[in-house]
Amino acid sequence: MWDTPERYGLVTRLLHWGMALILLWQFTGMILRMILGRTPLMAFWVGSHQSVGTVLLGLILLRLGWAWANRGRRPAHDRTPIGWAALIGQRVMYALLLIVPSLALLRAVGAGRGFAFFGHQVVERTGQRIGWMADPADLLHSKLAWLLLALIAGHVAMAMVHRFAWRDRVLARMVGRAA
Ligand code: HEM
Repeated sequence: MWDTPERYGLVTRLLHWGMALILLWQFTGMILRMILGRTPLMAFWVGSHQSVGTVLLGLILLRLGWAWANRGRRPAHDRTPIGWAALIGQRVMYALLLIVPSLALLRAVGAGRGFAFFGHQVVERTGQRIGWMADPADLLHSKLAWLLLALIAGHVAMAMVHRFAWRDRVLARMVGRAA
């Protein structure tokens, strides 16, 4: 259940792999829409984007709370340049996972188009645009989302380097059984 200095516990693993799957859904939908255009399948897939993104915001808040509750007992980072790079990269990913959906939600409220969460209307359509709420996401939502994807790709690549080149137990902390 709880994390230990040797491995991450069940809750951290569920949050990590659950969010990984949901992010895969989110990014795959956007990439396929760019390739295939607006087909009926893409309308369904991309139609879930706002609600799924809002779920991700809830999960990252839970994850930050859980990280706080487990502070001091998690596996430590190496005090090497690569260890520091991993720590900074992870902090930036946490920050982007907060900022990317938050800006988009602010726009959903301020753009006047209304916002429905899995079909339940949460914000009514007003047709009135509030610039300070909508502009930041217009400027940054997609750019920061692609930066997040680039960091995730680097994170996955480094996990593979640990597993197959250096053959250490770093990946096993998040997937393996107790040593
Ligand atoms: C962690 C959560 C999220 C991720 C990773 C994400 C990712 C993305 C990506 C990759 C794009 C495509 C940008 C492009 O076409 O270049 C996009 C577009 C969009 N997203 Fe999100 N998104 C998230 C959350 C949300 C939320 C919560 C909302 C609304 C409540 C939202 C609303 C939109 C809208 C309206 C667009 C199209 C306009 C634009 O490009 O800014 N997204 N998102």
